[in-house]
Amino acid sequence: MWEKVWKTDKIAYGGDYNPEQWPEETWEEDMRLLELAHVDTLTLNVFSWAALQPSEDKYRFEKLDKIMELAKSHHMNVCLATGTAAHPAWMARKYPEVLRTDFYGTRRKFGARHNSCPNSPIYRKYSVRLAEKLAERYQNYDNIIGWHISNEYGGECYCENCEKAFRVWLRKRYGTLDELNRAWNTSFWGHTFYDWEEIVLPDHRTEHFSENETTAQTISLDYKRFNSDSILECFCLEYEAVKKYTPDVPVTTNLMEGAYKGLDYRKWGKCMDFISWDNYPSNEDSYSKIAFSHDLMRSIGGGKPFVLMEQTPSAQNWQPVNALKRPGVMRLWSYQAVAHGADAVLFFQLKRSIGSCEKYHGAVIDHVGHEHTRVFREVAQLGGELFELGEEILGACGRAKAALMFDWENWWAIEYSAGPSVKLKYLDEIMNYYTALHQQNIPLDIVGQEDDLSAYKLVVAPVLYMTKPGVDERIREFVKAGGTFVTTFFSGYVDERDLVVIGGYPGRLRDILGIWVEEIDALPDSKKNSFVYGGQAYSAGMLCDIIHLEGAEALAEYQDDFYAGTPVVTRNAFGQGQAYYVGTRPEEAFYGRLMAEICQRQDICPAVKAPSGVEAIERSRGKEHYLFLLNHKEGAQEVSLPCSCTELLTGDSYQEKEQLQLAAKGVAILKWMEG
Ligand code: GLA
Ligand code: ZN
Repeated sequence: MWEKVWKTDKIAYGGDYNPEQWPEETWEEDMRLLELAHVDTLTLNVFSWAALQPSEDKYRFEKLDKIMELAKSHHMNVCLATGTAAHPAWMARKYPEVLRTDFYGTRRKFGARHNSCPNSPIYRKYSVRLAEKLAERYQNYDNIIGWHISNEYGGECYCENCEKAFRVWLRKRYGTLDELNRAWNTSFWGHTFYDWEEIVLPDHRTEHFSENETTAQTISLDYKRFNSDSILECFCLEYEAVKKYTPDVPVTTNLMEGAYKGLDYRKWGKCMDFISWDNYPSNEDSYSKIAFSHDLMRSIGGGKPFVLMEQTPSAQNWQPVNALKRPGVMRLWSYQAVAHGADAVLFFQLKRSIGSCEKYHGAVIDHVGHEHTRVFREVAQLGGELFELGEEILGACGRAKAALMFDWENWWAIEYSAGPSVKLKYLDEIMNYYTALHQQNIPLDIVGQEDDLSAYKLVVAPVLYMTKPGVDERIREFVKAGGTFVTTFFSGYVDERDLVVIGGYPGRLRDILGIWVEEIDALPDSKKNSFVYGGQAYSAGMLCDIIHLEGAEALAEYQDDFYAGTPVVTRNAFGQGQAYYVGTRPEEAFYGRLMAEICQRQDICPAVKAPSGVEAIERSRGKEHYLFLLNHKEGAQEVSLPCSCTELLTGDSYQEKEQLQLAAKGVAILKWMEG
């Protein structure tokens, strides 16, 4: 079922606008410029807490009233922020508890932003109060299309309020100290707890010898869960506050770079009415990396369209080297977002500020103050195109037959693990498989361990180290019913408490995969093993599992070392389906090959055969199909079209098998009707 994110009748276009940073006399000219660029949506009030609440019991909304009127009179939709992402200085002075304490135990002073302790009762009280006041005051503005709670939640706090809250969270999770002692394996290194008050937060002063190295993995893992939950509670409290007055306005918060490690976004996604996120790739990032973030964001929102809340029209300010987006790239990446499910394309920022750290961050309206800039022209061109597209595409969704499993708790557990190798980075392994499939234009969803797998023909779960309750059963059923499952080395080792599942690796996955992994060898960068698969030799590095077959067949064997001749890639026929195991980190070419073979076997096809560097993604609503062709290459490319269709950006019609020319960085959106 397709569903719109916002009540707009076109892809929303606009972004963060901070008129409070400018004299009022300039606002009308801003509106002229923004209208010229076909901007129709303003994200307002993101950092205005100090302006709106000058002291504990004083609120001042007059300026925001004027800004809301300005937006309304120019027929702009508003994504209204609650403004709580930076607490006011007076609050920090009067109530130091709102300040965070860092990993090293230092209580911060006032400064920067995203700076509040999530467990401070004062912070919660006043952030919720502000959200509620805003909703009450502006509830009758029917141009408010969404609420934007706070901004880019993240970070950690190790203060005393958090420590107290951690104990409460643990009581809820474990019930008794006995249960907690078992889960935390506290008989190791004399950690037994006899009183809840003995429990302290795992930081530099306690369990950690660096941010990523801990002596007590489960304690650190629970802190990560707790911190994510604590911050999520802050979101939920503001969510409820705005819903009191505007129950029909959908609520979001802008998530960071798809896979932000600090927060379990999958859990967050369930509490948000719609997903929005901020896309800031560097010019060197592969288009598959960006695509992964889009797919992840869409997937945590249950497959519904999402909002691209921020991107820069040109440069960033916080990279070490802030290269300009080359001509055409902003447009290309905007359509890439739409292709993967975005129903809104928004920028940070609409107007370049004159002071502090974002004055050189790209903007639609530059310091020069007029429309005669390259960036403005590109923004206006895209705005014109989105205007012409009207309600096309809105609400359409994808229909992937393949899924990649990605899980935050697994991520934390893998990277806290002492051994087998610090080189093992979960995202790298995820991206190896994602990229292989994505470069072949296989549409992908990104599922969690809790998700139903029955809609898919292929599920790839790289490094499924932690098997949370029920996931093995879901995988078992999925394979039995004819699905193909792929996993890798270092899978099935531990349960959700990070305690080893005894009886042989890969633990609960052993029967599905038909193997027993006896040992795992870690290789330094300088050392490689190798194997031959289908007549082709591939190198094997980083980790090498030593595998015994228990029903599976070996598809390839190691060629070197004392385990030469033992299996490295295996396949097990299980029920109606197949379970593959890749026991090492092979060289890149292998992923493409294996995934291509599996997709062929499972009859999973791309929407169109496209040359390398051309991304092809489809969105559909009912009988309407939209195929996006995105040329990420520097040179022109040609695609032979799968059916007769209309190209929406030019209005040109094409016949089946006709060649479509894509310019360098070019985009085509092909529409056809089914039946
Ligand atoms: C983030 C924030 C914005 C802005 C941009 C700059 O995404 O949400 O407020 O600071 O970064 O890139
Ligand atoms: Zn705190």
